[in-house]
Amino acid sequence: MTTARAFVIGHPIGHSRSPMMHGYWIEQAGLDATYEKRDVPPEALAAFLAEFRANRWTGCNVTIPHKLAVMELVDEVQDVARAMGAVNCIWWEGDTLTGGNTDAMGFIGHLDDCHPGWDKDASRAVVLGAGGAARAAAYGLRARGLSVDLCNRTATKAQSLATHLGRDIAGHGNEALPSLLGRADLLVNTTSLGMIGQPQLDIDLAGMKPTAIIYDVVYVPLETPLLRQAAARGLRTVDGLGMLIHQGAEGFRRWFGITPEATADLRRLLEEDI
Ligand code: ATR
Repeated sequence: MTTARAFVIGHPIGHSRSPMMHGYWIEQAGLDATYEKRDVPPEALAAFLAEFRANRWTGCNVTIPHKLAVMELVDEVQDVARAMGAVNCIWWEGDTLTGGNTDAMGFIGHLDDCHPGWDKDASRAVVLGAGGAARAAAYGLRARGLSVDLCNRTATKAQSLATHLGRDIAGHGNEALPSLLGRADLLVNTTSLGMIGQPQLDIDLAGMKPTAIIYDVVYVPLETPLLRQAAARGLRTVDGLGMLIHQGAEGFRRWFGITPEATADLRRLLEEDI
C-alpha cells in the first residue's frame, strides 16, 4: 500500500500550524500518511494540481494566494466555497476532485463543543468585521437559524458582503453597534483588533444579555481583552484556537474518513507554538 499524502499549499507558505495539527492526528490514528507544507507560486499552481491528480494524492489545504484560483482547477466547487469566495480544502469524492471551505463548519463546530445547545434560544448575532472570517461566521450562524448583523469600520464592505450572502444577513457601519448589542445572543469578533501588536477592540459589553456568548476569532493571545471583559461580566466565551482546530478536523475527516478530536494535548501543542 502506498502512503497517503496530504498537503498545505500557499505562497509564501511561511509558518503554518496545520502540519503540526494534522501530523498529531495522523499519529493518533496510526495512519500511514504524511502532511506536507509546499510553497507553490501562482504560476506553478496548475502544475501542482496536475501532479496531485496524477498521483491521486489524498487531500490538500489551500491558503493565500490560491483560494480563488484553485476553483478553476478542481472538478466541482461546493456552494459553501462559492459563498465564501474561497476554497481552503480539496479532496476526492469518488473520482471527482472537490473544492470546499471548512471555515464555517469549523466556526460552528467549536461553538457546539464549548456550549452544547447554545442555539436553542439564540436568534440574533452580531459579527464584527467583513473579511473571510466574518463570511464564515455569518454563513455558519445563519445555517443554524440565526439572523446576523455584520458591523464593520467600512460600512460599504459589510453591506456588499451581506448582499452577497443573501437572506437574514444585514450589513452596517460600526455606529450601529450600540443599538444592536442589547438584543444579540452572540457577539463575534473577526477583526484583528485585540491581537498582539494591534489596538484593542473598544467595546462595552455592559448592555448585553446575561445569556450572551462572546466569541473571539483572534487567538494570539488566547485570552483577548474582549474575552477577559466578557468573563469578568459573567458572560460565556469562546476562543479562536478551537476554530482553527475544528476547521482542520473537517479537512482531515474528508481525507481520511476519521473525525479527529480537539484534545487538550493538541491544544497545548498549538498554544506552545503561539
Ligand atoms: P480575514 O479575511 O482574516 O477575516 P481581513 O479580510 O483582513 O481578515 O478583515 C479584517 C477586518 O478587520 C476588516 O473587516 C477590517 O475592517 P475594514 O473593512 O474597514 O478594513 C477590520 N479591521 C482591521 N483593523 C481595524 C481597525 N483598526 N478598526 C476597525 N476595524 C478594523
